[in-house]
Amino acid sequence: MDAFYKEIGAAKVVPVIVFSSLEEVVPVMDALRGGGLKTAEITLRTECAQSALRLAAERYPDILVGAGTVLDGEQARRAIANGAKFIVGPGFSREVCDVCRENGTPYLPGCVTPTEIIQALSCGISVVKFFPAGLYGGIGAIKALSSVFPQVRFVPTGGVNAENMEEYLACKKVLAVGGSWMTKGTAEQIAHMSRECAEKAEKQR
Ligand code: 3PG
Repeated sequence: MDAFYKEIGAAKVVPVIVFSSLEEVVPVMDALRGGGLKTAEITLRTECAQSALRLAAERYPDILVGAGTVLDGEQARRAIANGAKFIVGPGFSREVCDVCRENGTPYLPGCVTPTEIIQALSCGISVVKFFPAGLYGGIGAIKALSSVFPQVRFVPTGGVNAENMEEYLACKKVLAVGGSWMTKGTAEQIAHMSRECAEKAEKQR
């Protein structure tokens, strides 16, 4: 578990990807990796998502590939069987938490309220996704929550972009940022945006 948080903390950027077809997997993953990004959250929002996850996890062992938008235990179980090295949810699910614990797979639940954070903490989880970050108060909200929960680290996602990612990463309570902005466009554009992200993340070290 600790190794996972170290890896995410070192990568600093988690691309959030929606694959509409399996054909997109290799060009997008190649472009993200080519730009220097080291992680990928493949969201389970499309029909091909589990197959895309399996393909990416098999073909890119050097990338930390996880599953996103995981809403229930069954999705989590399948994603882990398909090679997901971590599980992300838009909210907190006790069922997903239990499956992840059984499998020793890290779980980043979406938590934006103190009650949700307390729920995560009671399950031994102290790194949470803060989603949708922009709409729930952004960095100001993270700082306010941190004064009550100093043991918690956040992965803000939703409304994070090339312009504001450095502001988020400058906050010590932010372990990494997530977002989809660098996953869209041509392979060249994705590689360019990924390189820009990796350079900005590097400056925060
Ligand atoms: C997510 O699934 O975390 C969000 O959809 C990503 O948000 P963004 O598209 O605003 O980056």
